[in-house]
Amino acid sequence: MKNILVTGCCGYIGSHTVVELLNNDYNVIGLDNFSNSKREVLERIKEITNKEIKFYECNMLDAGKLETIFAENRIDLVIDFAAYKAVGESVEKPVEYYINNVSSVLTLLSIMKKYNTKSLIFSSSATVYGTPKEIPITEESEVGKTTNPYGTSKLYVENILQDVYKSDKNWNICILRYFNPIGAHTSLLIGDSPNGIPANLMPYITKVANKELDCLKIFGNDYDTNDGTGVRDYIHIMDLALAHIKALQKLETEKKGFYIYNLGTGKGYSVLEVVNTFEKVNNIKIPYKIVERRKGDIARYYADVKKAKKELEWEAIYTLEDMCKTSYDFMLKNKGE
Ligand code: UD1
Repeated sequence: MKNILVTGCCGYIGSHTVVELLNNDYNVIGLDNFSNSKREVLERIKEITNKEIKFYECNMLDAGKLETIFAENRIDLVIDFAAYKAVGESVEKPVEYYINNVSSVLTLLSIMKKYNTKSLIFSSSATVYGTPKEIPITEESEVGKTTNPYGTSKLYVENILQDVYKSDKNWNICILRYFNPIGAHTSLLIGDSPNGIPANLMPYITKVANKELDCLKIFGNDYDTNDGTGVRDYIHIMDLALAHIKALQKLETEKKGFYIYNLGTGKGYSVLEVVNTFEKVNNIKIPYKIVERRKGDIARYYADVKKAKKELEWEAIYTLEDMCKTSYDFMLKNKGE
């Protein structure tokens, strides 16, 4: 498999994965509609890799344009990152979320079927587990009971993909369930730069560090965790990107099948531990105050990562210190842009 179509190629996880694909000599055909990303990411990718991708500005819901990409290129495999991802916004705009995150995949699948491209890596999320009954969470843990339309849209797509595979065992599908990706590329040329006020912890902390926001609000310190604040499995974006190459190699070897992997570090850190580590490695104070719990939040979860380690021969190597350092350095290097 040489020609990889990457949807959402300029987004946070998409761009880092494109860099890894190019570094591993894959040809990348990328599409993005810049709904939550910037065109300059294409230049940054070129600067890091000295290679170019073939780029299409395209909304995934535009079936005609999407089909053109398949007509003009022999696509061997698709990595589908293109989706909306803001949990709070999804509660406000469920219809937009289901159309964008579910209909787009249906459009993609029907075109893939028509062009006999049956290999797909899909970006899912640990959110499909809802409130987990057991920790660490394995791939066998029960899914469902998602707490917002974003999470439910990921669950629906997972179900659709299972049905597609059941109907035709020539498909070769890998679902990757991300835990909490943070950090930036070590070149500091690409990273997470969400539009508007960030909803997620690390982008919020970096904006407080930059004095764009006054103070971090920590959502609750009365959870059943080591210090009362929420515990998550934060994973460095560089580790996450590499996992996609491993998943791709797995699909290249197996030729057909249906696979699901958790992508995390297997370690949980509390909000206060993240704040303290950020302060220490960057030598900066992060003012914070404890506020009410955020609706829909879960006390603690982290991944069981044995399956990915065994079957993908991959495990996360970057530390929380690395994640905090690259997040801050990326912001410093790119502020004002
Ligand atoms: C959420 C989604 C997840 C999605 C991820 C990244 C759910 C249940 N979770 O994860 O699917 O993949 O975003 O987009 O749908 N926190 C604060 N103050 C803040 C922000 C966060 O205290 O300003 C705390 C939260 O309460 C939580 C932790 O930090 O304990 C991490 O929050 P966040 O970065 O938003 O990620 P999740 O909610 O875990």
